[in-house]
Amino acid sequence: MTAILCDPRAEAVLERLAGQADRQEAEMTAYYDAKRRAAKRTTDPDSKADMDFVRDKLVALDPEKCALCYLLCRSLGARRVVEFGTSFGVSTIYLAAAVRDNVREGGGEGVVIGTEIEPTKASVANANLEEAGLAAYVDVRVGDARETLRGIGAPVDFLLLDSWIPLVRPVMDVMAPQLRPGAIVLCDNVERYEKEYADYTALVRDPGNGFRSVLLSHQGGLELSVKLP
Ligand SMILES: C[S@@+](CC[C@H](N)C(=O)[O-])C[C@H]1O[C@@H](n2cnc3c(N)ncnc32)[C@H](O)[C@@H]1O
Repeated sequence: MTAILCDPRAEAVLERLAGQADRQEAEMTAYYDAKRRAAKRTTDPDSKADMDFVRDKLVALDPEKCALCYLLCRSLGARRVVEFGTSFGVSTIYLAAAVRDNVREGGGEGVVIGTEIEPTKASVANANLEEAGLAAYVDVRVGDARETLRGIGAPVDFLLLDSWIPLVRPVMDVMAPQLRPGAIVLCDNVERYEKEYADYTALVRDPGNGFRSVLLSHQGGLELSVKLP
């Protein structure tokens, strides 16, 4: 893929994390194949066993989707970005690079508020962001996003939803009133888990709720929604 960040320090961290994710790939494929063979629901990514399994996995957002996040945040001039699901911080690096670049070019202050329920993942994410030179632009809140994202304090320009599906609608209910008019929300895997996301898409696809929304069919699908004025 074409270089998006043009930041060798951040890109070196992303390359290392991509190698780590590649090494986890075989284990993840074997796990989900076994699950399929056991005739369990393949579309349920959120069982207790699954949560335990992915505790040390990156499950990072696809690089092209991360690049899209960077470009949209740059286009919006985003200074306040929120992410539900930080994991080891792959998508966070792209979001933080966009906020840093917006601030450098346009002045002011900016932050990415990440949130991660697993304290060990949050501390690895913080270390990765430090190594990438982006820690000054990120506040990773440890805990349940339904709580950590309440009362953020000022309108949010961009929201990435990349976490456990049953929590996406409740988190969106917390975030929707905190989005500025024109804010963009991206939600991952909406095509692959269409049924499971029904409560979320019912919200963003009904213009009566103050959003306009489109499903981008790439790697499981990405729902892109804009908050209307
Ligand atoms: C798909 S991963 C995020 C990947 C990340 N965006 C990236 O690209 O590297 C989802 C993350 O959400 C976290 N998570 C699950 N439930 C959560 C909750 N209630 N609050 C905050 N984070 C949660 C999981 O621990 C997991 O690390």
